[in-house]
Amino acid sequence: MNYIGSKLSLLKFLEESIDKVVDKNCHIFCDLFAGTGAVGTYFKKKGYKVIANDIQYYSFVLNKQYIGNHKQLKFEELIKLLPEIKNIKIDDRKNFVCEFLSNLRGVKGFVYKNYCQGGTKEKEFERLYFSDDNGKKCDAIRTQIEEWIKNKLINYDEYYFLLASLIETIDKYANTASVYGAYLKKLKKTAQKNIVLKPAELIVNDNDHEVYNEDINQLIKEIKGDILYLDPPYNQRQYATNYHLLETIAKYDNPKIHGKTGLRNYENQKSVYCSRAKVKAAFKNLITNAKVKYIFLSYNNEGLMTVGDIKETMSLRGKYGYFMKAYGRFKADKNRNYSADRTTEYLHYVICD
Ligand SMILES: C[S@@+](CC[C@H](N)C(=O)[O-])C[C@H]1O[C@@H](n2cnc3c(N)ncnc32)[C@H](O)[C@@H]1O
Repeated sequence: MNYIGSKLSLLKFLEESIDKVVDKNCHIFCDLFAGTGAVGTYFKKKGYKVIANDIQYYSFVLNKQYIGNHKQLKFEELIKLLPEIKNIKIDDRKNFVCEFLSNLRGVKGFVYKNYCQGGTKEKEFERLYFSDDNGKKCDAIRTQIEEWIKNKLINYDEYYFLLASLIETIDKYANTASVYGAYLKKLKKTAQKNIVLKPAELIVNDNDHEVYNEDINQLIKEIKGDILYLDPPYNQRQYATNYHLLETIAKYDNPKIHGKTGLRNYENQKSVYCSRAKVKAAFKNLITNAKVKYIFLSYNNEGLMTVGDIKETMSLRGKYGYFMKAYGRFKADKNRNYSADRTTEYLHYVICD
C-alpha cells in the first residue's frame, strides 16, 4: 500500500544500520507504530518473533495477517458451504476463496450509500471515492466476510486474512490522489477497473507473534523485547483522517460521518505524536518506559521534534547514535510547496544501559 511514511523502500537501510548496532542474542523485534506492517514483515522473514501494534484498526488488521498469521489457512469449516474447497490443495485455497468473493453480486451497503456517486447523489455531499460497481462489490465482500465469522464458517486467522486482502485491494481502486483526505472529481483509470480481490501475502513460519491495537504509550508498559523500532508520524497530519475510509471498511461499524469527505469521528485515535505541543512529553514517556536492549527511531529533518530533542531524550537511556540517508518525498506531499524535494531520513538509536 502507498502509505504515508511507509518504510518499504528503506528496509535495507534499516536492516544494515540495525545490524551494525545490535548483538547476536536478539530474538524479539517490536514494531509499535506498525502502519502497513512492512518493517515487521521484513524482520519476521529474518526469523525474529515480532510484536506489532498500531492505533488504527485497519493497520491492526494488516498486521494480524502479515505478522500474526504464520500457519497455513485451511478454510475447513467453509467446506460446509463450498464443498469444492475439499479437493483444492491447501496452498491454493486462499485464491479460491478470494475468487469466490470477487464474483459476488454487489450490494448497496454503507460504502456505496456514502462514498459512491450513485449512493450520494441525492445527499448533501456527492462523493466519488469509488465507482458505483466497486463500492457495491466492496459492500458485498465485507458483508460476506462478517457473516462467515458470525456463523463460524471461518476462524479469526482466516477472517483477518480476508479483511487484509480487502483493505489492500480496495486501496488500489480508490479514486484518490493517494490518501482519503479528498477524492478526485472524475474517476481515474484504475478506479474504473472492476475489483478483483487479491490474496494478501501469508508468511508461514514457526514463531508465535503478537499484534495489538493500542496507544503505544499504554502498550509499552506491558511488553518486553530486544529491539524496539519506532516509526511515529513526523508531522501534524493525522493518519485517522488520511485513511478514514480504510478504517470504516475494516470496522464496518456504520459510523456517523460528516463533511465533504465523510469523515468518521476519531477523537480517541488522535495521535499526540502529531501535536507540536505534546509530542516531546509523549516521546520521553515512551523512551523511559521501554523494556528493551536497543531502541531505534525513524524520523526526518522536518519532523516536529528536532535532532537535539531526540538526542536529549534517547540519551537518558544510554549510548546514543544515528545513521542518515537522503530520501524522496511522499507522493502526495510533492506539490505542497516544500522548498526541498528530498528530505534527510534519520535512524536514531540508543543502546540501553
Ligand atoms: C510513519 S507511520 C508507520 C509506517 C510503517 N513503518 C510502515 O512502513 O508502513 C506511523 C504509524 O503510527 C501510528 N500511530 C500514530 N500514533 C500512534 C499511537 N499513539 N499509538 C500507536 N500507533 C500510533 C499511525 O496510525 C501510523 O500507522
